[in-house]
Amino acid sequence: MGKELYKIMTYGCQMNVHESEKIAGILEDLGYVEAQDNEPDVIVFNTCCIRDTAEKHIFGNLGVVKAQKKKNPNMIVAVVGCMTQQENYDTLLREKYAFVDIILGTRNLEDLKTAIEKLKISRAEQKKGEKKYRYSSQEMISNYLESDDAIPVTRTSFPNAWVNIIYGCNNFCTYCIVPYVRGRELSRPMDKVVDEVRRCLDAGYKEITLLGQNVNSYGNDLKDGNTNFANLLREVGALPGDFRVRFMTSHPKDLTEDVVDAMVSSKKICNNIHLPVQSGSNKVLKDMNRHYTREKYFTLIEMLRKAMPDIGITSDIMVGFPTETEEDFKDTLDLVKQVRYSNAFTFIYSPRKGTPAADMVQIPYEIKKNRITELIKVQNTITKELSNEYVNGVYRVLCEDIAPKMEGMVCGRTESGRLVTFKGNKEDVGEFFNIRIKQSKSASLFGDKE
Ligand code: 5AD
Ligand code: SF4
Repeated sequence: MGKELYKIMTYGCQMNVHESEKIAGILEDLGYVEAQDNEPDVIVFNTCCIRDTAEKHIFGNLGVVKAQKKKNPNMIVAVVGCMTQQENYDTLLREKYAFVDIILGTRNLEDLKTAIEKLKISRAEQKKGEKKYRYSSQEMISNYLESDDAIPVTRTSFPNAWVNIIYGCNNFCTYCIVPYVRGRELSRPMDKVVDEVRRCLDAGYKEITLLGQNVNSYGNDLKDGNTNFANLLREVGALPGDFRVRFMTSHPKDLTEDVVDAMVSSKKICNNIHLPVQSGSNKVLKDMNRHYTREKYFTLIEMLRKAMPDIGITSDIMVGFPTETEEDFKDTLDLVKQVRYSNAFTFIYSPRKGTPAADMVQIPYEIKKNRITELIKVQNTITKELSNEYVNGVYRVLCEDIAPKMEGMVCGRTESGRLVTFKGNKEDVGEFFNIRIKQSKSASLFGDKE
């Protein structure tokens, strides 16, 4: 008999992408192998609930699995992560999606192993007509850090390795569900983080991305004086070898001069930052509980560009927050034009139940749609102009993958985070190349090895 197969459906942010690597580690530890085209024996939905669209997508795909499970009742269906952690979602899943066998939250992933083992035993022993076994727990367990450190990881993004440095968020931006579903900030001790980075480098990884909802508040909950994000960058940047360090996400209110100094202090730390502004209007920023003004944000951009003139800056920008007027939106457009991001993720505000902004008077969808269209147009023009500036220059690029749908081509990124496509094959993945940029197309650059 062949080995049993697993499939993981991942939704949402990089944090979830990395958590799925832990889920894969747990499943492989149990003897499962990843399903290619075959139907899996266990399917795990690693969920997101940051916007309504994410949830709709997940419920749609769960519907497809319901039909599969009817044909194959032995299949195990697990739903884990952010979505399950919302109020009343356990009941919702129990009542409307009764075929789901296992439900776990954001801080008890480790229980997946026990849940599957117990489920299998219960199924083997189950007598006709007996109530079906179901494992459901979304507890925010207090020994989370220790248990999380013990979870095996099957990394899937060579040459990049994701490394968690802080879990949860204390900020409570008024639109955001994350603090409710991921709990309060919990930093991993610095020696644990540095150890994991070292192990990744020993295993041949060439890029380390330090992960947290707000990396800049790393260490605040530890209160040991030495543990902060700048010092962590210095320690990681001082490790031997030819590799790169990236990090995400930075909250503007916590970005310090010390962090910028640390970025400059090591060539291994990329001149690249994701610094979500969300809005360019002081009134909206206040209503969002962001704790900075547009003036403060401009000062940060100036500080970053002064220290690293070639830095690539990206952002998250939201339109249609309940109190956003046409004037406020114009302020956002103006900020975008002044900052000139290399790229920006743009979002239509989506009310999240239980957050303060969801109870405010909402803006009609038509208005939000028009605003995002205009914002994207402005940002695309800037992205295109900045891409043009790369043409004829030579940049060090880490080859990350075979280029999708382009035979004989590979792709990678400049230190500033720009995507570059060039001729190559799978042996090039994980190697650095000097690439002369020949052409630019909106956000993408095309070049040749020097
Ligand atoms: N609606 C739309 N976008 C949101 N984000 C967070 N919450 C919401 C919401 N309720 C966006 C923010 C954040 C990014 C990860 O998702 O811009 O930075
Ligand atoms: Fe959400 Fe704000 Fe925390 Fe980011 S900083 S995860 S937007 S609450």
